[in-house]
Amino acid sequence: MAIPTDNNKNPNVNPFVKWAGGKRQLLHEIHKYVPQLNSRSKYVPKSFSQYCEPFLGGAALLFDLQPPDALVNDINPELINVYEQVRDNADKLIRTLKQHKREYEKTGEEYFYTVRNRDRLRSFNRLSKVSRAARLIFLNKTCYNGLFRVNSRGEFNTPYGRYKNPNIINEKTLLAVSAYLQANNISLQCTDFVELGKQIKKKAFVYADPPYHPVSGTASFTGYAKNGFTEDDQGRLRDFCERLIVDKSCYVIVSNSFTDCIRKLYSGPRFRIKKINANRNINSVAGKRGKIPEALITGS
Ligand SMILES: C[S@@+](CC[C@H](N)C(=O)[O-])C[C@H]1O[C@@H](n2cnc3c(N)ncnc32)[C@H](O)[C@@H]1O
Repeated sequence: MAIPTDNNKNPNVNPFVKWAGGKRQLLHEIHKYVPQLNSRSKYVPKSFSQYCEPFLGGAALLFDLQPPDALVNDINPELINVYEQVRDNADKLIRTLKQHKREYEKTGEEYFYTVRNRDRLRSFNRLSKVSRAARLIFLNKTCYNGLFRVNSRGEFNTPYGRYKNPNIINEKTLLAVSAYLQANNISLQCTDFVELGKQIKKKAFVYADPPYHPVSGTASFTGYAKNGFTEDDQGRLRDFCERLIVDKSCYVIVSNSFTDCIRKLYSGPRFRIKKINANRNINSVAGKRGKIPEALITGS
């Protein structure tokens, strides 16, 4: 399988939801380790059979590479429903987003909370899939920091974002993504990453961008990360990658934080760890940004 050349890619295929851990700003670093884009390193294969992204989130690398054959996954069912609706129902989705935009322009914050709190009502379960997808995109554009966060009852609880002019509908991008997902063999799954094992082809290229191991608080680590992805899960992911390399000759790239735990996990002979610098909003004061090290791990 070949990744299309830049001339054959659609430049309008881009992430349209803001997602925690989005990889757009690190793409230039990741490119250095992508098969076909890198022809020099002895560790990076020249080609691959299938692209696989087990933690899809905002889909930055999928949309950047636009492979024709991909297996992509996220455990978040609302997010996967968004991609399915963009693929199958783009026109209806855009019409529904336009309704949201009109209402939002009338009352702003009040409308945001009306839409956000719909999942507290019984009628929420009767909402169509396309309405649910439009709701997630609308909330993503208007909530604080585009953060998808639910409470223990599964209710969306991120507060209002106070944006002056949120870009609620990016029609060009939604139509381009819809066309890409329709025209290619892109399998969208919603499960725990380990469940993908059987569907991953021999010699696949797997890019894993899991919830990161927390940088602070590791000294008193209790086994649970704030984002629900535990240190055990990080270990399961390393084992999963190792099995894919050993059993299926896959090539893997893993993004994570540059912590002692992650460096130890991937210290085996099959992996190489590169330290890269990422611009992250690590300060609670909005606008104050800093460079923090991240790990880019390749395995083959
Ligand atoms: C760091 S984000 C991925 C960011 C993405 N690469 C981007 O550019 O936007 C991690 C994603 O992993 C998903 N996730 C968490 N636990 C998972 C699991 N056990 N299996 C599969 N996906 C999981 C989350 O829902 C989240 O969307």
